[in-house]
Amino acid sequence: MKMTLQDKVSIVTGASRGIGAASAIALAKENAHVVLVDILDCSETVEKIKQINSTVDVLVFTIDIKEREEVQRVVNETVSRLGRLDIVVNNAGTCSRLDLEHMTDDMWFRDINTNLRGTFLFTQSAIYPHMKKQGYGKIINISSISGIMGGPISGEKGVNGESGRSGPAYAASKGGVIALTKWVAKEVGEFGITCNSIAPGPVETEITKGMNYRLNQAIQRMGTPEDIAEAVVYLASPGSDYVTGEVLKVCGGSAIG
Ligand SMILES: NC(=O)c1ccc[n+]([C@@H]2O[C@H](COP(=O)([O-])OP(=O)(O)OC[C@H]3O[C@@H](n4cnc5c(N)ncnc54)[C@H](O)[C@@H]3O)[C@@H](O)[C@H]2O)c1
Repeated sequence: MKMTLQDKVSIVTGASRGIGAASAIALAKENAHVVLVDILDCSETVEKIKQINSTVDVLVFTIDIKEREEVQRVVNETVSRLGRLDIVVNNAGTCSRLDLEHMTDDMWFRDINTNLRGTFLFTQSAIYPHMKKQGYGKIINISSISGIMGGPISGEKGVNGESGRSGPAYAASKGGVIALTKWVAKEVGEFGITCNSIAPGPVETEITKGMNYRLNQAIQRMGTPEDIAEAVVYLASPGSDYVTGEVLKVCGGSAIG
């Protein structure tokens, strides 16, 4: 399969840890230059990339992806410093587990604005003008099976309205990411740009720490960030040039059908 990413420039949001860090490392392994974006420190990810492939360029931006000017600065500086922009992995996300009864406006807007609006901002800023002008691009949006099935996997209920599963704002934001992915795919195919989504099932990261999920799925284990990163590399590579508008579930069979 054509998986090499030599000379390609990628941006990964939420690259400080978890799925974002694993994705950035996997892209660098395939020789892509990587731009790490997070509100948290990314030095651990930088260190790991340098150990795996010291030949690729690595830039770091510590920003809040909800801020339009910040997002545009990251994209513009990426292009001015690295010469192009081929791949954007919209991965940064937050997940409130408050149930519907206890959901607050603050939590609702945090999840919707981070997960959905952050994805919109990076997608818009990357395509217009850079990817369109280049005639090439890969947008990869990390959604969730929650956005397809509405928080299907549950652990113990917590106190103060904490449902055992991802909350309604999260499900709505990820459903929105899937719809946005399909809309954008139809719009930008003519410019040589693909837009796809990966919908992970339960993955061992900070988001799921201590959740004690009751797994009822074909593959009876939590996913790893690396499981998701493999799919990111596929959708970032020329091997998937004829794939667009798709939602690739990487979920251990928790959302078959
Ligand atoms: N872990 C799972 O079970 C699972 C399942 C389905 C989908 N996902 C999705 O995968 C993505 C990665 O999550 P993860 O599991 O690695 O969790 P994580 O909490 O380890 O990683 C999320 C990263 O996003 C960053 N981030 C959050 N808000 C930000 C903001 N406003 N600006 C910049 N950075 C911000 C965080 O600092 C963190 O580094 C998320 O979109 C999440 O919804 C995760």
